Amino acid sequence: MFKSLDILDEKDKRLRKISKEVALPLDKKDKDTIDRIITQLTYSQIEEKAEKYNLRPGMGLAFPQLGMLKRIIVIVYEYEEGKFENYVVVNPKIISHSEEMVALDTGEGCLSVNREVEGHVPRYARITLTGYDPDGNKLSLRLREELAVAFQHEVDHLNGILFFDKIDKKKPFFTEDEIRLI
Ligand code: NI
Repeated sequence: MFKSLDILDEKDKRLRKISKEVALPLDKKDKDTIDRIITQLTYSQIEEKAEKYNLRPGMGLAFPQLGMLKRIIVIVYEYEEGKFENYVVVNPKIISHSEEMVALDTGEGCLSVNREVEGHVPRYARITLTGYDPDGNKLSLRLREELAVAFQHEVDHLNGILFFDKIDKKKPFFTEDEIRLI
């Protein structure tokens, strides 16, 4: 039986805290939470399930969004119609990035932000991220484009940063000459 997660709203101060590194391997409780996140993010991207369970579409979630100040992020990426790849990274670190920046043309959204926020969020076009899987095995991921953006958005959550913090209030939109819009 599916029961949706309680996701904190942007006004909750816990979203502004720095989350703590986690000891590995993860315990069963954290692994169960990860499974629930994966299920919910997957369902949220399948129209029929999203409607049935009243889920707002989202591809990523970080533990602090559930009130748990742990450095764990989950991304469920639809790489092909109806096909999903799951990424779980514990204690993630962006160890290098491109000089090139990109921004999602439609702007970003967040499951903790229940309103439309207009504006381009500048992100690195490519990143290399290291961390651990839930069993404590070392991971190294090279990510680009939308996936790179999604990972940067989630890592920001671990540092108390929300996407709209990075939108320039005076000039919220870039032109194609200033940044590559994807
Ligand atoms: Ni978010």
